[in-house]
Amino acid sequence: MITILGIESSCDDTSAAVIRDGYLLSNVTASQAVHEAYGGVVPELASRAHEKNIVPVVDQALKRAGVTKEELSAIAFTRGPGLMGSLLVGVSFAKGLAASLGIPMIDVNHLQGHVLAHFIQEQQSPSPLPPFPFLCLLVSGGNSQIVLVKAYNKMEIIGQTIDDAAGECIDKCSKLMGLGYPGGPVIDRLARQGNPDAYHFSKPAIPGYDYSFSGLKTSFLYNLRDWLQEDPDFIEHHKEDLAASLEKTVVDILMNKLRRAAKDLKIKHVAVAGGVSANTGLREAFKEHARRYGWTIYIPKFSYTTDNAAMIAITGMFKYADKDFCPMEAPAYSRVAL
Ligand code: KG4
Repeated sequence: MITILGIESSCDDTSAAVIRDGYLLSNVTASQAVHEAYGGVVPELASRAHEKNIVPVVDQALKRAGVTKEELSAIAFTRGPGLMGSLLVGVSFAKGLAASLGIPMIDVNHLQGHVLAHFIQEQQSPSPLPPFPFLCLLVSGGNSQIVLVKAYNKMEIIGQTIDDAAGECIDKCSKLMGLGYPGGPVIDRLARQGNPDAYHFSKPAIPGYDYSFSGLKTSFLYNLRDWLQEDPDFIEHHKEDLAASLEKTVVDILMNKLRRAAKDLKIKHVAVAGGVSANTGLREAFKEHARRYGWTIYIPKFSYTTDNAAMIAITGMFKYADKDFCPMEAPAYSRVAL
């Protein structure tokens, strides 16, 4: 019996999870409301909140799992990429706990964790696991990538954004409209009541499978400026249509490249991961592609879309099987590719 404790602290969620033999026993996350007033994550405040949360969150995860510390086989933790101060809280905690229990530590790449979230199994609702190779669209606040997943530890980024990420673009456009942070959930909610064809924003023409979202952001900004000159209350009157049109453009950009990659590589198993995979329009687009192109799609449960420790623990489970442990002196890293 292999029992892994996963710890995630790369950005503004403190999370701990316990997985036993591939099955999730608990997944506890403390989100940080402290950043809302600032319109974005404030790194120093995030580190302090992690410090406050980490002990109770790990405690809760063990309690809910019905597992004692002594039963743990190893501790998996997010080593990067992320905010350095935030990462250090989780990394130091994991090191201290692993040393005191005399068990191995497993370092996890946060992005790899997002992709492998599709392998988290729940006893109550078992879901089909993607077979290798599969494609994964990884879309979050910091990344927009098409990943060719050949094995749990063999991933190739075949396309990625050359500037802004999809989530970042949505967040910035939402900020331009004065709709608060993070913009994703607000835009999603408003988009459901709007007309996606009301406005047309420019789409990039980038070769290959790469993405670009900064042009869309600029096009949104300039259009908005013109409309506001004609009607100062333009946003208030049209926010649903604006949200729906923006969402549709982002989803179209993402799906066009993904569709091309799937066709070229002849892969029909396609997954989506990361915070933006919570988006209703994107989920609908995946279902539509499954119907039209015969894809088998893998859409994560909402709780595994944003940052969570369950995905860190499942990645730890894979690495544990290969005895792929990390030394005590392994430092955190803020930036790295998959
Ligand atoms: O993976 P994630 O939690 O962490 C970061 O990379 O920061 O992704 C966060 C991103 C944010 O840009 C947020 O606005 C976006 O995911 N997001 C959404 C939705 N929920 C979260 N974007 C669109 N629709 C949503 N429902």
